[in-house]
Amino acid sequence: MIIAVDGPTASGKGTIAKRLAEHYGLPHLDTGLLYRAVGRQVAIDGGDANDPDDALAACDFDDALLDDEILRSEEVGGLASRVSVHPRVREALFQRQRAFATQPGGAVLDGRDIGTVIAPEADVKLFITASVTERARRRWLEMIDKHIGDEDDIPLSEIEQDIVRRDARDISRADAPLRAAPDALIIDTTSFDREQAFEVVLEAVENCLK
Ligand code: DC
Repeated sequence: MIIAVDGPTASGKGTIAKRLAEHYGLPHLDTGLLYRAVGRQVAIDGGDANDPDDALAACDFDDALLDDEILRSEEVGGLASRVSVHPRVREALFQRQRAFATQPGGAVLDGRDIGTVIAPEADVKLFITASVTERARRRWLEMIDKHIGDEDDIPLSEIEQDIVRRDARDISRADAPLRAAPDALIIDTTSFDREQAFEVVLEAVENCLK
């Protein structure tokens, strides 16, 4: 069984995908991490994330980089969003994601184009979303929780602007833009806490599998 979980940044799709994988005993791939590794590698190489050649060269990153906590930072998220617009980068990362999706027994993948490009045949396609304000609030709480800063030095408005910029780049790129597959279940988690969101998702998945 393949479960595709797509959605914008900070929508909660990663947590939901991880919990679905645990629930169904399936392996999970956070595909955003691959783009983050490319973005980080470009920075290590002293390249420019907007340059398609620099970004393509960075697709050769060492897998050990995937365990580096720095990949989770906002800065690397921005670089990932930049490198992900280049079609040759998407092509370079395609096979790895496709192989993961089609492994025997199935898998859960989360990202932006899983239901549309990586695994259009997925048994379940979810598109997880939430309002910009709520996503910014969640990201803000997460940053405070991880001691990345305190309430006074992380302006919520800046996080909100960053999310709007990232959404715009992910939605408007020509190749595999962020978009719900026509047959995806769209779940808006704005008014749910983590537990409620997972309950709603699980019920939707179970209905879909009936
Ligand atoms: O999910 P995330 O925030 O870790 O993703 C970081 C960036 O990577 C995101 O802004 C766009 C890109 N991405 C993508 O283009 N396709 C995917 N399947 C996953 C992520």
